[in-house]
Amino acid sequence: MDQITLETRKVSIEFPGVKALSDVDFQVSTGEIRALVGANGAGKSTLMKVLAGANPSYQGEVLLNGEVVELRDPSAAKKLGIQIVYQEVDTALIPTLSVAENVMLNDTVMNTRGRPVINWSKMRQEAREVLGRLNIKNINARTLVQDLSLAQKQMVLIARAIQSQCSFLILDEPTAPLSDTETVELFRIVRHLRDTENIGVIFISHRIHEIIQICHQYTVMRNGEIVGTRDVTAETTSKEIVEMMLGRTFEENFPKEQVKLGEEFFEVKDLAGGDGKVNGVSIHMKRGEIIGIAGLVGAGKSEFCKTLFGGYKQTGGEIILNGKRLKIKTPSDAVRERIALVPEERRKEGVLVNEDVSFNLSAASLGKFCVASFVNKAKTDANARKYVEQLGIKTPSIRQWVRNLSGGNQQKVAVGKWLAADCDVYIFDEPTKGVDVGAKQDIFRLIYDIAKAGNGVIYASCENSELLSITDRVYVMYDGRIMAELVTADTSEDEIMHYSVGGTTAYVKA
Ligand SMILES: Nc1ncnc2c1ncn2[C@@H]1O[C@H](COP(=O)(O)OP(=O)(O)OP(=O)(O)O)[C@@H](O)[C@H]1O
Ligand SMILES: [Mg+2]
Repeated sequence: MDQITLETRKVSIEFPGVKALSDVDFQVSTGEIRALVGANGAGKSTLMKVLAGANPSYQGEVLLNGEVVELRDPSAAKKLGIQIVYQEVDTALIPTLSVAENVMLNDTVMNTRGRPVINWSKMRQEAREVLGRLNIKNINARTLVQDLSLAQKQMVLIARAIQSQCSFLILDEPTAPLSDTETVELFRIVRHLRDTENIGVIFISHRIHEIIQICHQYTVMRNGEIVGTRDVTAETTSKEIVEMMLGRTFEENFPKEQVKLGEEFFEVKDLAGGDGKVNGVSIHMKRGEIIGIAGLVGAGKSEFCKTLFGGYKQTGGEIILNGKRLKIKTPSDAVRERIALVPEERRKEGVLVNEDVSFNLSAASLGKFCVASFVNKAKTDANARKYVEQLGIKTPSIRQWVRNLSGGNQQKVAVGKWLAADCDVYIFDEPTKGVDVGAKQDIFRLIYDIAKAGNGVIYASCENSELLSITDRVYVMYDGRIMAELVTADTSEDEIMHYSVGGTTAYVKA
């Protein structure tokens, strides 16, 4: 099969106050799976947007098979066979249309007079063919996209990309919202694209083990520059990739800190809610304790967190804080009772993207910064500077709009916002999604600080290794219920997994 190469030469991009890319030379060919790695804000998405025609102001050159091409709008890139699936898959789909219509969206058929004609049966047939080519069996072409899971929506976008002319497919953090089984299915498709369709896939992920698993080569970016490209071999370790990314030595095992536990102060009894997805959950917590909520995607963890926070209607059970039974109907009730939530879907719920960094970092605790109902700007700015520093938020200034920050840095703002608030119970729902491995440790450190100050932390995550490194106890959820309560020091990823898939028998250590 013919090889096509795609290459950037001295590509640079400057945003106000930020040199996002400096003289980037990057090269990729069809028929390979290439990883692009780098810390939050390194420039990965910016570079990929150049290739996708979504950053028209780039300087330098892009070459396809040695010839300069102009990628000044997305349709130019598509015509040349460069397709991208952004992380926020929802924005690229039309929820009220069917799978077939979404797959064929790029390719509305025109009649001889240049008017669009829609041949429904042909459209469905072609959409089915593309899904079939990818061996995707669990998606019906007639289903409305709004009824699909996130993973399925991603498959629809991939199908759409390869239905059109496609030599290169860019996947920007596709696995961040996926469960392990969904990731396995995605990797099957990615391998198929390489082997059968001779497509060059560029794959971005902060999960380094995935890169070792699926890529031939990885390219590392740091501060808008390419650090280098290396082969993935049997000897490649995640430690060496991370150290190349961060430009410093890195200890993967996060040291667990012992926090002295105080009295029992928070209890949830038989909680029901979460739109039917939480069915009788009971937990208890001591001051200074970090408890984990484990479970697969869809187990009800987020619904549980949001029900505690008043984001879903509580239909049964009790929430007791400091001996008082709480009535939480809305998030503001929760905040008044000193309960904080860092939600999973940061762009929708966690940050105000059209406000600046400083405002966002104070938004949850404005009361603290007010003098006679005026917000004291000096105080909010000092608070913002503190968390920008502690979380390593990469931004040219605290006045930057949050929507201009990289994905991972937006997530850090969503976390930092609540760190400033004076609460008793802090709920974190997948706080490290899309956050680089270095920044993850900064977040862990701040969570320890919260616990050390005598508060309680609820930490929901599908990453069992994270739960094992920072919690004291773990509750495992399955189908809206708690299957097991485990002491972190005495458990293992295997045991958590056993209960996560609904195991009702006692776990037997291998
Ligand atoms: N539209 C924009 N306006 C201003 N600055 C921007 C804009 N887009 C990106 N940046 C800045 O460019 C830099 C690179 O961002 P980019 O999104 O490429 O990072 P990334 O490597 O994809 O990070 P992440 O892993 O967090 O997604 C960041 O400092 C970001 O704040
Ligand atoms: Mg990015």
